[in-house]
Amino acid sequence: ASARAASVAEPGAGEPALVKVSFGYPGRAEPVLKEVDLRVRPGERLAVVGLNGAGKTTLVKLLAGLYAPQSGTVGTARDAAVVFQDFARYPLPLRDNVRLGAPAHGGTDADVLAALAAVDALDLLEGLPHGLDTPLSRSFTGGRDLSGGQWQKVALARAVYALDAGRRILIVDEPTAHLDARTEQEVFERLLERTRGRTLVLISHRFVTVRRADRIVVLDGGTVAEQGGHAELLAMGGRYARWHRLQTSLIAGTNR
Ligand SMILES: Nc1ncnc2c1ncn2[C@@H]1O[C@H](COP(=O)(O)OP(=O)(O)OP(=O)(O)O)[C@@H](O)[C@H]1O
Ligand SMILES: [Mg+2]
Repeated sequence: ASARAASVAEPGAGEPALVKVSFGYPGRAEPVLKEVDLRVRPGERLAVVGLNGAGKTTLVKLLAGLYAPQSGTVGTARDAAVVFQDFARYPLPLRDNVRLGAPAHGGTDADVLAALAAVDALDLLEGLPHGLDTPLSRSFTGGRDLSGGQWQKVALARAVYALDAGRRILIVDEPTAHLDARTEQEVFERLLERTRGRTLVLISHRFVTVRRADRIVVLDGGTVAEQGGHAELLAMGGRYARWHRLQTSLIAGTNR
């Protein structure tokens, strides 16, 4: 019984989890997260939403083990591929930009191309004079800079490559913020397909993406204010429902 109790209380080596986690940045009176409980289930597609500054990126960094909580316990996602909101843009060839997702994995160019294809990024190669060998920086001879959206796809391909190399969990903080709405939907569909059976933690501001999740967690005021499926949260008529209404009316407005 005691072993069972321990496994319930302590987030172990498995899925990422926060147990009564509080975290604040030095020099700020108000903590960003207050006794947050969030356990990700194996194979779950979890979306985290919240207004700017709600603490979503802070939560991702805790799960990734980059920050230590002031109190509570974090089950860090050691087995995760993480795409941070401020993802890395290496001034290296495209091949290396993807392969750095799992440097020790002896992936071939076919594996690199498969990862790029998984996030709908193969057309990117058309603008690169030396294919996968093209340095992604104009400061190199024959190098090319990428657009924000193209960089984002490269960062996602890097994570897909890491999954192919054996990581089980994918955590993505606004994976598609630089992409237009239609591209985001396409990329996300592919990503869902490609990560079937794996655990996915997704931060997004777009409900077209979020609504597909098994569970949606709404962060507000430093805590999990609401959680449930899309339909459930709409029926609840709270923050999520208001946010959904606002986005729907904005989209209707732009389509007029
Ligand atoms: N390095 C830092 N030092 C001090 N304060 C920070 C730092 N990073 C974030 N904060 C503050 O912590 C709060 C939560 O920030 P966080 O980046 O986690 O929010 P977020 O939900 O990811 O927002 P967004 O939707 O804009 O990405 C904000 O008030 C922010 O100003
Ligand atoms: Mg953020």
